[in-house]
Amino acid sequence: MRAAVIHELEATPVVEEREEPARGEGQALVETGAAGLNPVDLAIGAGVFYGGHPPLPFVAGREGVGHVLEGNAFAPGTLVATLRTASGSMAERFVADEAELWEVPADADPAVATALGIAGLAGWLAVEERGRIQEGDRVLVLGATGTVGSVAVQAARLLGASRVVAAGRDAVRLERSVRLGADATVHLDSADLEQAFRDAFPDGGPELVIDPLWGPPALAAIAIAPIGVRFVNLGQSAGASMELASAAVRGRRLEIIGHTVFEAQHEDLARGHRAMLRHVAAGELEVDLETFPRDQAAEAWAAQRAGPAHKLVVTA
Ligand SMILES: NC(=O)c1ccc[n+]([C@@H]2O[C@H](COP(=O)([O-])OP(=O)(O)OC[C@H]3O[C@@H](n4cnc5c(N)ncnc54)[C@H](OP(=O)(O)O)[C@@H]3O)[C@@H](O)[C@H]2O)c1
Repeated sequence: MRAAVIHELEATPVVEEREEPARGEGQALVETGAAGLNPVDLAIGAGVFYGGHPPLPFVAGREGVGHVLEGNAFAPGTLVATLRTASGSMAERFVADEAELWEVPADADPAVATALGIAGLAGWLAVEERGRIQEGDRVLVLGATGTVGSVAVQAARLLGASRVVAAGRDAVRLERSVRLGADATVHLDSADLEQAFRDAFPDGGPELVIDPLWGPPALAAIAIAPIGVRFVNLGQSAGASMELASAAVRGRRLEIIGHTVFEAQHEDLARGHRAMLRHVAAGELEVDLETFPRDQAAEAWAAQRAGPAHKLVVTA
């Protein structure tokens, strides 16, 4: 079969012939419909992901969507999704533990289902499961211009927020976030970011902050947040560390909630993913994606390295 293979750490994958993956105990063999590219794939390929990397050479890509060819828990032909294939998703076929798979609606577009996998679930579950959104909450989404953030903006709107503020740097994508449901936007390069956040919440600061950034934008958001704010961190695009004063934490009874989809419960992943696909089918949720045929996986990889700010999906 054709597969995008990483031979050396930090190298771009090479599309070549590769042996079929063998289905082990408790695994399904799946015909790949689409495979997602994420920052984590680059980190794994560079050998810098905290969870490590498979032995070299390995097939690139973690998340995948496709039709079951052979399985025990899933009938052949079932459309399934996973965030974690066992053999790599940028190949004609992959194997995955059946415990890591869930069924998605048969009429779902595999590319859209993939785009709503790691990135979509990071945004959706940050709001719904980790953020415990309540009807009427005011929500601030940092990095709203990225894939994760744009889903978080839409999740907040769909799950009952009374006010959604989208914050980012890219002016065009900030404008788009208004069409996706944000009530106001904040430019992260504002000279006085704390004041810009305050101005965006005239009726009181955000009860929930979704943060893929960390660093200065996170500090500014915490500085203006009300008592009891729930602050969900899921990434570090603006800085790997920051100096956070004890007073800022205890004074507002700050709840810092870490979130990674790779530690989420399987039922939360399946529920969140199906909910997003229902909203897509109803025309209520969208994800900005670009597809590359599998033979152009190296170009897709280079595009991901350049930081596309939209979701890249490798298709059959
Ligand atoms: N925890 C999880 O489960 C999980 C899952 C998926 C992704 N993530 C993480 O979430 C983050 C976003 O992922 P994504 O897929 O949305 O990426 P993306 O589509 O490439 O978007 C990147 C976002 O980060 C912003 N950004 C980048 N550098 C910045 C800086 N120095 N200061 C301020 N903003 C900056 C961009 O803003 P502009 O475009 O406006 O410049 C954009 O909003 C990444 O850190 C990723 O690793 C976490």
